[in-house]
Amino acid sequence: MTKIIVFTDIHFGQEDATADPAARLRAGFEHLERYNSDAELIVITGDLSHDGRVEDYEALREIIDTAPRPVQLMIGNHDNRENFLSVFTNVATTASGHVQTSRETDSAKLIFLDTLQAPPYSYPFSHIGVLCADRMAWLDAELESDKPCIIFMHHPPHDTGFVAMDAIKLGNGPAFYDLLERHGTVQQLICGHVHRTISGSHRGVPFAIFKSLVGQMPMLFDVMDFHMECNEPAAYGILMLGEHGVIVHTEDFQLTDLSKAVIKG
Ligand SMILES: [Fe+2]
Ligand SMILES: [Fe+2]
Repeated sequence: MTKIIVFTDIHFGQEDATADPAARLRAGFEHLERYNSDAELIVITGDLSHDGRVEDYEALREIIDTAPRPVQLMIGNHDNRENFLSVFTNVATTASGHVQTSRETDSAKLIFLDTLQAPPYSYPFSHIGVLCADRMAWLDAELESDKPCIIFMHHPPHDTGFVAMDAIKLGNGPAFYDLLERHGTVQQLICGHVHRTISGSHRGVPFAIFKSLVGQMPMLFDVMDFHMECNEPAAYGILMLGEHGVIVHTEDFQLTDLSKAVIKG
């Protein structure tokens, strides 16, 4: 079984953040090294920086350099692709310059997508996700796979019930799902963007979305403001990949002191 850790929406540089992103990421790395040291990979599914500034990526790189496991970085709507690539110069990109790549575990193929709709960086329009023709063609080729595929992408490609976030989901979700259906090789989607733990399925494909490292989406489904945040303990996701499928856990790692866990009875 392969264990993968997922952080998302770490928003380095957010001035009105409900918590310090760098301190929380360091705490998360310490926690996973203590309790999940058998993890093979750490994935951070986008919104690495809040405003896409070079200095935010430099601050992140300082911590990534100390990460206890290899880290796969992805970008989201708050990121700036050019600034990100100017700091993380060894990150793989496609021929079209998008931050997309794949890798294999014993049981699955992991596919990492770039759903940032920019340049131009034009907000609020750029908060909506997209997979352009180049990115879709790349994905089409990757989905031709002998192993089941797990897709990591910042924007959910479907509604989640939060009307404000549904307005800035992946803009071409139906075409994305048509492509998945043609191949029939996708086992699981992993997303971020909503800042809330959500799971379910859409058009027969299971999905999981994890909480942010910092501000969380309040459970107010019908409020049309995607800037809402509430302060809750930080979390990371834990994926266990085996030959028969995927197990998805979420760990609110600041909620419980596991060293004080007791045996009852
Ligand atoms: Fe975010
Ligand atoms: Fe986002």
